[in-house]
Amino acid sequence: MPRTSGAVGAAYLRRGIRRSGALWAAWHRLRRVTKPEPPIPSRGVFIALEGGDGAGKSTQARLLCGWLEELGHTVVVTREPGGTAFGRTVRELVLHGDHVAPRAEALLFAADRAHHVETLILPALGRGEVVITDRYMDSSIAYQGAGRDLGVDEVRELNVWATGGLVPALTVLVDLPADVGRARRGGVHDRLESESADFHDAVRDLFLTLADADPDRYLVVDGELPPEQIHELVRARVAIVAGVAR
Ligand code: TYD
Repeated sequence: MPRTSGAVGAAYLRRGIRRSGALWAAWHRLRRVTKPEPPIPSRGVFIALEGGDGAGKSTQARLLCGWLEELGHTVVVTREPGGTAFGRTVRELVLHGDHVAPRAEALLFAADRAHHVETLILPALGRGEVVITDRYMDSSIAYQGAGRDLGVDEVRELNVWATGGLVPALTVLVDLPADVGRARRGGVHDRLESESADFHDAVRDLFLTLADADPDRYLVVDGELPPEQIHELVRARVAIVAGVAR
């Protein structure tokens, strides 16, 4: 492929940087933060439920937990924000407090997640348990990255750092048009829910884009189906992806 003048310029710049030791080290540090960290091996199975407000994730988490427990698995059902005592304090701040600057909001969700992963999720996975979380980092990528327009890549990088790169074996996206979710909730319960229709449309689009880009790791279900039918679809996929239903 022919090199553009931009590429030639970049090559000169890199050569110049290499000649200066300190700058070269800084360049490598910068490259490191922009590269995803390797996945963390663990014995358990990590499953995330994602979707807009009012999509029915909590119902699915409960049904999935019941089924897995019947099969003899030890299951931890948790949520973000607020899966830990620290997280519950963060939840109050970020969902029920006064105005929070968008970057502060992104950092608070990431702080909740970092603590959640280290103190609750990883220990459970280490014991070989199944962890089902009602929301994980895709919520930040969608709500803060796209909804708040803070930048999808920036918010993803922040969260990869916060979680040490822990990625669910399966993310179930319960997809629902934003206006249907709004009608189901029948009112506004927190700061994020009170955002505009455009905000919630952007959130939904971003969730779908994430799922489209990685079909092996996502299951998209129609949130307008009856809960039992959604549960059947989820069970079928969990059985395959996580190999839990033997
Ligand atoms: P919650 O009451 O848990 O709602 P739901 O039942 O819809 O999950 O509220 C969580 C709210 O916080 C929801 O509006 C989505 C938002 N949120 C973010 O904006 N970023 C995040 O990273 C997370 C985890 C949630």
